[in-house]
Amino acid sequence: MDWGIGSYEHQAPHLLPAVRQAVAEVAAQPGEFVVDVGCGAGSAALLIAAGGASVVGVDPAPRLLEVARSEAARRAVSAKFLVGDAANLPMADGTVDAVVSTFALIFVPDPATAVQEIVRVLKLDGRLVFSAWIRSGGMARQADLARQLLASSAKDPAAPVADAATPAAFAWSDPDAVAGLLSPLGFSLSSQFGKLAFTGESPRAAAEAEIANHPRWANVRQALEPTGRWEAAQAEIVRVFTEVNEDPAAFRVTSEYVIHAAVRTGQAGPVAK
Ligand SMILES: C[S@@+](CC[C@H](N)C(=O)[O-])C[C@H]1O[C@@H](n2cnc3c(N)ncnc32)[C@H](O)[C@@H]1O
Repeated sequence: MDWGIGSYEHQAPHLLPAVRQAVAEVAAQPGEFVVDVGCGAGSAALLIAAGGASVVGVDPAPRLLEVARSEAARRAVSAKFLVGDAANLPMADGTVDAVVSTFALIFVPDPATAVQEIVRVLKLDGRLVFSAWIRSGGMARQADLARQLLASSAKDPAAPVADAATPAAFAWSDPDAVAGLLSPLGFSLSSQFGKLAFTGESPRAAAEAEIANHPRWANVRQALEPTGRWEAAQAEIVRVFTEVNEDPAAFRVTSEYVIHAAVRTGQAGPVAK
């Protein structure tokens, strides 16, 4: 899925409390070289660059990189934004002090390959900080609905459907699973858990804002509009937002996440598959 469809830049600010926490965990020093993998509209990259580190944001979505560049200019912050993929980073071996990835590394199709690539670019004492959603509650219901709607529009109803806005099958939120991936590469890991509230005036208003902006629903819309089922799908989305609402007077959905901070302290061993 192209995260450049829709207007992810209007969704990204909702994640800022968790992004700030990840940025604090990176603790980038002026003069350090930091790479933001899956930078999107540049939330983490811009905060880190404002602190004086040298920052490159990498993302496969060119339109979001344009948004990030404009925002860097608006804030008078110096950061570079390059098209790229976590599995093929445009950096030389052993040159990066820290890699940060806020809710992005979790979307790579092959976790072991992406982690190996991050290890390739990191210095021997480099660090990796990334955040992952804990799949539960309202967020999981929305992901299930997106998959169900995409499946309903598939030519072959038996074919597997991937909602690209749903993280890959790897248990990125599980510290043991992540340690299994990173420990053989010489990292030690610490993880902290947090909660993020998505709020709005009402379930309908929140659903309509997400439908207008979120790449996930833009993707569903592209699939369903030609089948004439998009109108009905929007009603379904509003219904699910109403079901998962935690605030009878307005709208709130609480999502849980984890921030993993990995420091490279030893030489690389074999990669866990
Ligand atoms: C939920 S957004 C997060 C964006 C940003 N880090 C933030 O915190 O707002 C997920 C991002 O991951 C990017 N992404 C998806 N697959 C990727 C991959 N294989 N390598 C690098 N980035 C990827 C998407 O293009 C998108 O910008």
